[in-house]
Amino acid sequence: MAARMIRASNDPVQPLTADRIGLTLDGTPHEGLRGQTIAGVLLAEGVLSWRRTSVGDSPRGVFCGIGVCFDCIVEVNGVRDIRACQRRAQDGDVVRTQHDELPEVTS
Ligand code: FES
Repeated sequence: MAARMIRASNDPVQPLTADRIGLTLDGTPHEGLRGQTIAGVLLAEGVLSWRRTSVGDSPRGVFCGIGVCFDCIVEVNGVRDIRACQRRAQDGDVVRTQHDELPEVTS
């Protein structure tokens, strides 16, 4: 089975009330539907990852999708460590990518 992605705007199955909202990710505007999570908006717009790990520089986005793994964390309106898969997107949200910072090691 091949992976298949349909942008929300092209999905033939539309919600009864398609109330559109907009957010920005690092200044880039994205559009979604009221009720979607931030991760839902980004995935529907084709954004599959939005941060990289400090070890290995691996891309991260949604892994579990249920609020357990914290792979999807972003900064939303100045608040860090928000799980994009759990936070319902609000019109005008300013979302910024957030990267791991290694703690300072003291000996
Ligand atoms: S994808 Fe796992 S907490 Fe969001």
